[in-house]
Amino acid sequence: MADLDISIRDRIQIIRFTRPDKKNALKSTMYTAMTDALVAGDASPNVVAHVFVGSGGIFSAGNDIAEFIERATGQTSLSTQVLGFIRYLPLIRKPVIAAVDGLAVGVGTTMLLHCDLVYASPTASLRTPFLDLGLVPEAGSSLLAPLRMGYARAFELLVLGEAFSAERAREAGIVNAVVPADQLEATALKAAARLAAKAPEALSLSRRLMRGDTSAIVARIDEEAQIFGERLSSPEAREAFAAFMEKRAPNFRKA
Ligand code: COA
Repeated sequence: MADLDISIRDRIQIIRFTRPDKKNALKSTMYTAMTDALVAGDASPNVVAHVFVGSGGIFSAGNDIAEFIERATGQTSLSTQVLGFIRYLPLIRKPVIAAVDGLAVGVGTTMLLHCDLVYASPTASLRTPFLDLGLVPEAGSSLLAPLRMGYARAFELLVLGEAFSAERAREAGIVNAVVPADQLEATALKAAARLAAKAPEALSLSRRLMRGDTSAIVARIDEEAQIFGERLSSPEAREAFAAFMEKRAPNFRKA
């Protein structure tokens, strides 16, 4: 499909965001295609790992705000396409690696908390401006981020909406290593190849042990999704979405 390039190379499934005109913002059709690819890859003996990459110097600007606006007119839940994808993230059965160059916004950042290995270029910047959009953290990040980096840093990322540079994200334990942009994808693929060479059953069992009980993560995703869905049609979110489309700052006092 035009906005995604999904391929399998040397038993590694590469999911590349290719929607540069919209900064690789993720829309419904992309979520569906990604979920289908992850499920199929998990079931296929020809796939040993999944790798997410961006393109055009950006990882992803997060969820498509135009689709949020569509949902905000009448619907009070996340779309089944979005929910299908984020609910599958903790259930992915094979290793997931991300190569982050440039901006990773919203779900572009929170999906990284479900990856086993994350590599970032020096220009990578992780941001979750949920509050600026009148929204709340999603994709299990309200549970996973405090566990990963401690409450103080997680609050700065998720609630204050502070941008984390590649180096700060590495210090916080979201990113494994910062590598030059021209070596980023090769580094991710090399790590995937190293995993591909491991004993497959031992790899799968080790990963399952390390991931622990994923039902708590899925439960948190559902809890967040309920609130997030209701927030989409809130006056605060509507004002924020309108402001984004009109390329102006939001005014929450009148929301
Ligand atoms: N959803 C839909 N469209 C988006 C988008 C998103 N999340 N992010 C960017 N775009 C679109 C812009 O509307 C613009 O479209 P246009 O050319 O038709 O006007 C195009 O992508 C380029 O974006 P622009 O804002 O002009 O680029 P920039 O380099 O100045 O800024 C970002 C890039 C990512 C910082 C900025 O676009 C942004 O803040 N996006 C929103 C991120 C966000 O809040 N995501 C949701 C988190 S829950």
